[in-house]
Amino acid sequence: MKKLLLVLLASVTIAKADEGMWLPQLISALNYADMKKNGFKLSAEQIYSINKSSMKDAVVQFGGGCTAEIISNEGLILTNHHCGFSSIAALSSVANDYLKNGYWAMNKGEELRCENLSVMFIQRIEDVTAKVLGGLNPKFSDVQKDSAIKATVKALEIAAKTDGMDAFIRPFFYGNEYYMFVTQTYRDVRLVGTPPESIGKFGDETDNWVWPRHNADFSMFRIYADKDNKPADYSKDNVPYKPKYFFPISLKGAEKGDFTMVYGFPGRTTEYLSSNAVDLLVNQQDPIRVRLREKRLAVLETDMKKNDTLRLMYTSRYAGIANYYKKWDGEMKGLKKFDAVNKKKAFEQGLLDLVKTDAVKLAKCNGLFSAFQKTYTEYAPLSKQYDYYTECLLGIDGLRYSNTYANVFAELKKKQAGKENKFDKLLEDFKKTVPFKNLNPATDKKLCQAMLSVYATDIEAGNRPPYLDSLLNAHKGNAASLTDFLYANTSFVNNAKAQVMLSDFEKSAAVYERDPFYQLATAVTKYYQTAIIPQLQYLDLQINDLQKEYVQLLREIYKNKKFYPDANSTLRVAYGKVDDYQPRDGVRYAHYTTLDGLVDKNAMGIEDYYVKPRLLELHAAKDYGQYADKQGKLRVAFIASNHTTGGNSGSPVLNAKGELIGTNFDRNWEGTMSDVMYNVNQCRNITLDVRFTLWIVDKYAGAGYLLNEMKIIK
Ligand code: ARG
Ligand code: GLU
Repeated sequence: MKKLLLVLLASVTIAKADEGMWLPQLISALNYADMKKNGFKLSAEQIYSINKSSMKDAVVQFGGGCTAEIISNEGLILTNHHCGFSSIAALSSVANDYLKNGYWAMNKGEELRCENLSVMFIQRIEDVTAKVLGGLNPKFSDVQKDSAIKATVKALEIAAKTDGMDAFIRPFFYGNEYYMFVTQTYRDVRLVGTPPESIGKFGDETDNWVWPRHNADFSMFRIYADKDNKPADYSKDNVPYKPKYFFPISLKGAEKGDFTMVYGFPGRTTEYLSSNAVDLLVNQQDPIRVRLREKRLAVLETDMKKNDTLRLMYTSRYAGIANYYKKWDGEMKGLKKFDAVNKKKAFEQGLLDLVKTDAVKLAKCNGLFSAFQKTYTEYAPLSKQYDYYTECLLGIDGLRYSNTYANVFAELKKKQAGKENKFDKLLEDFKKTVPFKNLNPATDKKLCQAMLSVYATDIEAGNRPPYLDSLLNAHKGNAASLTDFLYANTSFVNNAKAQVMLSDFEKSAAVYERDPFYQLATAVTKYYQTAIIPQLQYLDLQINDLQKEYVQLLREIYKNKKFYPDANSTLRVAYGKVDDYQPRDGVRYAHYTTLDGLVDKNAMGIEDYYVKPRLLELHAAKDYGQYADKQGKLRVAFIASNHTTGGNSGSPVLNAKGELIGTNFDRNWEGTMSDVMYNVNQCRNITLDVRFTLWIVDKYAGAGYLLNEMKIIK
């Protein structure tokens, strides 16, 4: 009985099927047998190989934060609409609004160059643990160890940079292991096509992080290379990249229980936290962040409704703020419902019971748990301070903007001292920012008042930047009065005054340096950079060290369990199966959605569910052709139990034969807790069915010619 309990407890932290983001080069050693048992039909070498072409050669990190997959022999890549979003927005103008109308190149000549967009391939992954940790002096302090490791890492990275390759090393398991990723980055990437936002972002904020889902969150690009297939800056002489591998596309879809696999670049997870850390997250960090963002969103929402100028000015920031607002809210609620803190506590108790006859391990465990307790007690108030800095004070755009002038003042001082400086160039750049394209002073004033008001209430006097404290005192703690004062007297966040200021900046700099808004901005930076952040970083280092020991101990104690490292924006494989779930008592959500459901949502008349008439006409005509499922329906999205996180957006979702069946784009709200604790009954990744993608390309966009370069399996 006891043993059974321990096994159950172990499963709280230790991966079983479904859970986990695995390093591709370790699949054959760690996961292959389990994958096969779950239906996988290929070899581990077909997933990752350094000698032969393999799937890894068709997976790229896209634009730094997303994933994309190669789907043709001519460098065609598929990713999410929200991953291509900023590139599409940058190519758009009022006359050619590709966000609103979509865009499809009808031949390669019409593909659009995207500035500052690149894709990164992983050439090989190397275990460099011995090299990094090998020569460490055991007498070093934490800080000394940290800098010694950093120096070795840097030297190894530099040594690996040959033949146009790049390399980076990351710690795994909190620094118990180190892996080097040798990469190659292609810099000429062009937009091939995108559906209109009404399709790519259908459901917008209403549906974000939510299942059932109906948006076709995809866009297509093409990688270009020089004549030798090597990376090159944009040139009209560049040619489509010839990949080592590209994914065949299956039109067979996936049904409940089918094996699926996601190959991509998950950003960050923390699955091995102590109960103290989870407690802090659920009961302090998430609630603070959610509450502060809620207030910011409320201000923006009111103003964005006023007119299109304001709506466009704030739309992308709103989406960014709303995205993690909603994610943290889901995470907090999910962890509470899962009773996560108590589960972690029980797990820790179980561990103590398990080692109770081993004095050394028992002492180690007890030591770790009390160190966690002590460190998190110190950490909590600093973390609160930090959250109020980033989510509250820096939530005032004008404050962030004013802060950027610190550089201008610094460069001016160099100029005045006759030193080399960038002042004139900087000032010219600042002139281009006024009148503000990205900030409406009246809206920002409301943000400022709302943020200063919560700040004054929630952060005690004495724990604030002294200058802000004195301002609040002068205004009897009244945020509205202080805000009026700041905005009435600033030249920085006022279009007319900023123009005057920039025209005589050099002459009157001393006056502008005393501007109260600018003073506030620099005082805030100074306070947090000196009084809070260094302490926080010091504790972070300590926590990292504790985690390093803790994870090592877990791996020793649970020798037969397989451990996966937390996500850290490196290439990973997750596998699971298509599955439905029960979001709450009495309700079960199906594992897929169809175009019928999209049309039903549209009929509700909500703005986020608007689509162009063409989509409704195509639905009415039911011309689904080869893209229909067996029941004649057109599927839009499906869910599965693959363990994914931010950064997995755009990742290929593959079937047991390694054929592309969809593109990953989100998780379900009830499952966003998987960044901290994965629950196979609640956590689902959301995938756009590739049949819907191709139907949109072919029937909606009339760009079916693109299918000719794909390998389609019917
Ligand atoms: N939740 C998805 C992700 O984390 C989609 C975000 C973009 N969409 C949005 N409505 N903000 O990236
Ligand atoms: N939309 C996320 C991204 O951009 C994926 C959702 C998640 O966090 O799983 O990577």
